[in-house]
Amino acid sequence: MDKLVLTGCKKLKGTVKISGSKNATLPMMCACLLSEDPVGLKNVPHLRDVTTMLTLLGQIGVEVLLDDQSFVVLNSKNVKTLVAPYDLVRTMRASILVLGPMLARFGEAKVSLPGGCAIGQRPVDQHIKGLTAMGAEILIENGYIQAKAKKLTGAKIVMDLVSVTGTENLMMAAVLAKGETTIHNAAQEPEVLDLANLLIKMGGKIEGAGTNKITINGVKKLQGTDYRVMSDRIETGTFLVAAAMTRGEVNLLNAEPKMSNVIINKLQEAGSEINFKRGVVSLKQRKRITAVSFSTAPFPNFPTDMQAQFMAMNTIAKGRAKVEERIFENRFMHVQELRRLGANISVSGSIALVEGVDRLEGAKVMATDLRASASLVLAGLVAEGETVIDRIYHLDRGYERIEEKLANLGATIKRLN
Ligand code: UD1
Repeated sequence: MDKLVLTGCKKLKGTVKISGSKNATLPMMCACLLSEDPVGLKNVPHLRDVTTMLTLLGQIGVEVLLDDQSFVVLNSKNVKTLVAPYDLVRTMRASILVLGPMLARFGEAKVSLPGGCAIGQRPVDQHIKGLTAMGAEILIENGYIQAKAKKLTGAKIVMDLVSVTGTENLMMAAVLAKGETTIHNAAQEPEVLDLANLLIKMGGKIEGAGTNKITINGVKKLQGTDYRVMSDRIETGTFLVAAAMTRGEVNLLNAEPKMSNVIINKLQEAGSEINFKRGVVSLKQRKRITAVSFSTAPFPNFPTDMQAQFMAMNTIAKGRAKVEERIFENRFMHVQELRRLGANISVSGSIALVEGVDRLEGAKVMATDLRASASLVLAGLVAEGETVIDRIYHLDRGYERIEEKLANLGATIKRLN
């Protein structure tokens, strides 16, 4: 298993290019199932989750054309099976996103239940509730969701809670349903809007994406198109935090600042100077970071996917921060590992209190999930001496060549096979 070895305390300096968004790419890849024409996606990141999705789509019968310029063309003309097997779904929960499109275009789908994962139980009841409202007959049998519908019909769907992939699955199903569907309490994440824009380019009729009420008027057919995926706002945030923690100065190319307002505001509160110029976000950190408190919540509030990274930042900040995790019930697994590096954090339920320390010290630590891994890399960048991070396959799910990008900014970091 690969490990990362870091020697901390170097200021990050220089320019780095932000990759395409993982969480926008994955649903868009599934959206290709809605049309018999090829769909070309540009700015696709090279990540393990993308490879897993390509494998799943390949098994379903989607033809995949890749080029090394992050351009992927998916052709679902000759789909041969409508099954998403357990082996793939269990490694990546986003596989559930094939359910809505397959059901809408082919009238049936069999998708393994994803099951729980390290950060929480993560049920998919809202996906099922919405598809049932659109007329699907759904049976849960032998660990699989078996869904059938001769023709989905538009419906009013009120989601009991805000779900990102839930909203995306229902939007993709509704785009080929008969009549009008409204999704109330919809997720407003920029990735949902980006997916809607792709679907609109394919001929879908969607209004209100990016707000909490989305209206979709079903069409008979979608056509193929080319589309550029938005850039990754979580990768952007992670590199900004890295620069702030090391008191560095970095420029991020291909970043979309307006998608990351809440992250940028929090960094400014922590004392970072942030500027935007012609598609470049720059951060300069002159003095020690000030601790910042926050609670995670759906967009436009603070993203749960940045909680671990800001926690790492608070460990070396001046003052005390209160961090509340309100999306997932078990997303503090990085706390124990950060403590091994000398952090002073106490946890009670969904709240962590972080008391900034003057310095962290390198140690052996273990990555437990994707964003927890990122927080350990950030801590390793400032810890004195050597930090060895084990199980970094989690990191490869969501960060493209992170060690190469950090090394280009001056970090001492290497991967051990
Ligand atoms: C997506 C993101 C993930 C991010 C999360 C929250 C992708 C591929 N992944 O995950 O990176 O951390 O949003 O911003 O986009 N829930 C239910 N029932 C459901 C669906 C969700 O109870 O049917 C709960 C979940 O357990 C969780 C909360 O709702 O507590 C939010 O989950 P959701 O927005 O669905 O997360 P994902 O879409 O899986």
